Amino acid sequence: MENLITIHVTDLEGTIHDILAPTDMGFNVMEAIRANELPIKATCGGMAMCATCNCIVKSEHDLPEMSEDEEAMLDEAFVLDLEGSRLMCQIPVSNTIDGLKIQMGELTGD
Ligand code: FES
Repeated sequence: MENLITIHVTDLEGTIHDILAPTDMGFNVMEAIRANELPIKATCGGMAMCATCNCIVKSEHDLPEMSEDEEAMLDEAFVLDLEGSRLMCQIPVSNTIDGLKIQMGELTGD
C-alpha cells in the first residue's frame, strides 16, 4: 500500500512481527513499534537519551549515519559493539527502510 512500509521485528521471545508503518507521519521506528502495541520501554520518548529502544539491525538497508549522541548512548549501555546495534528512535520511517529486519535489544524489555 502507498505510504506504508513493512518492518520485520523479532521480539525478545523470538517471535517475528511484521508491522506496517506509515512513511508520511514523521514516525521513527520506535514510534512505529509502539503504535503496533509491541512492548518497548523507550523511556526517554525518542531523545537518544536512554538506550531502551536498542535493536540489532539484521538486514542490509542503507540507514542514516549514527549521530554522536546515538553512538555515545549505545556505548554507555554496553551494546555498541554488538553487530548492527542502533537506537530505533534514531531511524526515521521512510521508503528506504521498507523490509527492514530488526531484533529488539535486551534493554527494551523489563
Ligand atoms: S527512546 Fe530513548 S534512546 Fe530511543
